[in-house]
Amino acid sequence: MKIKSQHTKGTLSKRIKSKINGHRLSSPGRSTKLTAMSKTTAKKTVLSGIQPSGKPHLGNYLGAMKNHIAMQDSYNCRIFIADLHALTTVRDAKKMHDSIMEVAIDYLALGLDPDKAVFFRQSDVPEHSELAWIFSCITPFGLLERAHAYKDAVAKGVKESSAGLFIYPVLMAADILLYQPDLVPVGKDQKQHIEIARDIAVKFNGTFKETFKIPEPYIPDETAYIIGTDGEHKMSKSYGNVIEFFADEKDLKKQVMGIKTDSTPVEAPKDPDTSAIFKLYSHFASEKEIKDLRQKYVDGGFGYGDAKKALLEKILDYFGPFRKKRFELQENMSYVDDVLKEGAKKARKLAMETMEKVRKNIGL
Ligand code: TRP
Repeated sequence: MKIKSQHTKGTLSKRIKSKINGHRLSSPGRSTKLTAMSKTTAKKTVLSGIQPSGKPHLGNYLGAMKNHIAMQDSYNCRIFIADLHALTTVRDAKKMHDSIMEVAIDYLALGLDPDKAVFFRQSDVPEHSELAWIFSCITPFGLLERAHAYKDAVAKGVKESSAGLFIYPVLMAADILLYQPDLVPVGKDQKQHIEIARDIAVKFNGTFKETFKIPEPYIPDETAYIIGTDGEHKMSKSYGNVIEFFADEKDLKKQVMGIKTDSTPVEAPKDPDTSAIFKLYSHFASEKEIKDLRQKYVDGGFGYGDAKKALLEKILDYFGPFRKKRFELQENMSYVDDVLKEGAKKARKLAMETMEKVRKNIGL
């Protein structure tokens, strides 16, 4: 794939479109579950935000990214990079900027199509902050004091417990309600934040005038638990048990070969159902491949080292086209900038529609 910088006379959106069409990826990871859900109804709107947080791992991919990208075919899909939320913890301008661009590249490489989904950066749409302020004026203090994420952060002794951290859920409510979505796909840990957004919407509608649609959380449980390389905990950066599919091949190999196993000797039969290697493999392999690997475990004469090699191969196979595209995007940051700018324009148009109603309904 070559992304040449074309200077045609067409609009920016046309130029971007032609570039994307030039290298649309097949998407092996596309889930069909969401597609089936919306077949009989008019297109629903879904929205989700992603905090930029370094290299993504298999848990992020299977638990969130894959679903976000699958949604673009059957929903009006709004996906944004939650950089204002990241500001509650990040204090380094370069790190902030780099991680925003990294997450943008990750999503584009994995197949997010900015022609289908509105893909943008939160801070490019000032309506998020404006609505957050308005919401903060009707949000009871107690509602925020009960938020788990805030309570956990305080319990863990965050370095700086800022007002921003406290009203994090208010900004999140603004993110969501601005776009009047039907569904908000999130991980389990974010469920309470969606409930707070719903509470704020109800309060606003009741206090002023019916303005906001009340959204539903969407928490896909098939993907809720991805085992980490310690074979013990859920895959998560905080446990240091991750497999980063966009890491250098050398590091990726190290992570896969480092999966913890028991000391069953090569010759002995092994239990696939308690093996992290087997479980991870199952997420990416076909039915037949899963069955074959299961048999090898049960038969014995097949070591964990062999299983790890099979897993590594599978991961490289599956993410191969994505890794290639990611590399190409990295070489063409101006294209990524253009995508985000164009996304922000579309998002602002939607956000301004809601804000017009909001202002009118509160008398501003
Ligand atoms: N708080 C979310 C997280 O950490 C990110 C986020 C911000 C979000 N705004 C949102 C998710 C709106 C869904 C909808 O994962």
